[in-house]
Amino acid sequence: MTEFNPNYTTPQHLLNACPMYEKSPLIQLKSIAELDVFIKDESHRMGLGSFKALGGIYAVATLLADKWLKVTGKKLTLEQYSSIEFKNFSSSSTFICASAGNHGLAVASGAKIFGAKAIIHLSEQVPEEFEKRLINMFAVVVRSGKTYEESVDAAIKDANTSNGILLADGSWEGYTYPPSLVMEGYTVIANELLEQFTRIKKWPSHVFIQAGVGGLAASMAYMIREYWQQQPEIIVVESELAPCLQTSHRKGASTTVKGAVSIMGRLDCKSASLVAFNALEKANVDYLSISDKESIAATRILQENNISTTPSGAAGLAGLLKLYKTVRFKTYCAKNNFNPLIIVTENKL
Ligand SMILES: Cc1ncc(COP(=O)(O)O)c(C=O)c1O
Repeated sequence: MTEFNPNYTTPQHLLNACPMYEKSPLIQLKSIAELDVFIKDESHRMGLGSFKALGGIYAVATLLADKWLKVTGKKLTLEQYSSIEFKNFSSSSTFICASAGNHGLAVASGAKIFGAKAIIHLSEQVPEEFEKRLINMFAVVVRSGKTYEESVDAAIKDANTSNGILLADGSWEGYTYPPSLVMEGYTVIANELLEQFTRIKKWPSHVFIQAGVGGLAASMAYMIREYWQQQPEIIVVESELAPCLQTSHRKGASTTVKGAVSIMGRLDCKSASLVAFNALEKANVDYLSISDKESIAATRILQENNISTTPSGAAGLAGLLKLYKTVRFKTYCAKNNFNPLIIVTENKL
């Protein structure tokens, strides 16, 4: 199945039972470059510092629950997720993935919570800080390759030659179920926003979402188009050094691009996720790419407003500011209600 058909009530249901769970804040900042901007701040999500916590932990939990059902013939109950019996059961499972940092933290955290093991492949581009945090979570870290794509290949090989379970956040023909679960976990963000906007009775006119392989953008776009009462424009923001989703859109097929290394490390993915690409194709989104310089400028603006993030985390704002600078868009904004929403996707390292 290369279609994205999430059951969005399931991750929310599991999270409601989790003591670490709280909604991430929706902030309204006045006058960022003359604009009022809604900011969904994911930088403290589940104590892991990024929205990715929602995907990897949920996917680990679900894959283990699937295995439990297969072995015992019974559905795992909500109470059993935190039982010693389930931890003992999970101890024979090892999750393997490649990561630009945050997905690995989420998978390692999920493995730790439920008693499984994790092996995380990091390319040489991934900052050492991530490696340290992963080791603190008892994950085995393997430095694999020069680029994110090389670390993905190494993780696939590792899983193919061991008993490990590959839990990638990207997807391709023949490999879609685990990454779809990761994306299903992210639906919580749009779900929370639906509740937050309904409560304040205001809605964004435009949503800017940064993308690496596209899982976050596709999950958000799906949820917005299915469930939000007021429909915004959706703009997917990529690094100009890794515009795999807009290139895929132009070509009409999930594509790999070439490019130098971007300072937006977590967005520097050269291959689009197939499931994400298919979902975005149905969601009527626009694409925008930004430079490293623009992402650094956006990071500074957020810092001036007491939001600490990285160029990857500030990329949505960089996209918004880039679009706003164009004369045509400024004219549009003067005539129309322009209430943009951005997502700050990670904390400063
Ligand atoms: C901080 C941050 N922002 C955005 C993204 C992009 O998410 P996706 O790869 O699902 O497009 C990532 C992915 O790792 C990330 O870590």
